[in-house]
Amino acid sequence: MKEVSFAPSILSADFSRLKEEVEEVDGEADYIHVDVMDGHFVPNITIGPLVSNSLKRVESIDTPLSIHLMITDPEEYGPEFEVGPEDLIIFHSEVTDDPERTIATLRDQGCQVGISQKPASDREEIFPLLDKLDEVLVMGVEPGFGGQDFTPEALDRIAALRREIDKRGTDTAIAVDGGMNESTIGDAVAAGADTIIAGSAVFGKPDRVEALESLRRSI
Ligand code: DX5
Ligand code: ZN
Repeated sequence: MKEVSFAPSILSADFSRLKEEVEEVDGEADYIHVDVMDGHFVPNITIGPLVSNSLKRVESIDTPLSIHLMITDPEEYGPEFEVGPEDLIIFHSEVTDDPERTIATLRDQGCQVGISQKPASDREEIFPLLDKLDEVLVMGVEPGFGGQDFTPEALDRIAALRREIDKRGTDTAIAVDGGMNESTIGDAVAAGADTIIAGSAVFGKPDRVEALESLRRSI
């Protein structure tokens, strides 16, 4: 079976002890997922560069970041995130009239770049961009909050993307974000997802290492 990557989302972590929370999954996870929300693109406000950059500077944490920008101005605020070649910044297709320019602006930071779409957005719009992207993040829920139920329609989107990526021969990863747990992960991986982003199924559990192992066993 192919290797599946895991990105625990700190949205479900205890922010008063964020360093310790992330240390618990460091070395076990492939990315730490950072959900950035601006109260405009989604009806919620979370964290921005200040917190992400503090986390990035913690020397005891080695896991790369996947920074999910649910904001209306990724070209303005994306460059404020401190990132290296191993980190990933993901923006939403709905907020830009020139996605190639947005990709180039973020890529100038020296990081990897991904794109995401809300569940109702036209998936074919992003097909021509696949060779310029390291990841496509498929939302399993309406973006904005953790702990929502997975919408099975996302499986069609994952499968369509997998076919298109294979047809074009790009090595774009497919991540799925929202509603991932022991009951939903198997279908997402079977449909073609490479990376599982999970908040409540990891940081909502008392033992985060066991929570990641439990997800792995459920594939
Ligand atoms: C939702 C965020 C997700 C969220 C997932 O808008 O993008 O990353 O943290 O949370 P769970 O895994 O609890 O659905
Ligand atoms: Zn996310």
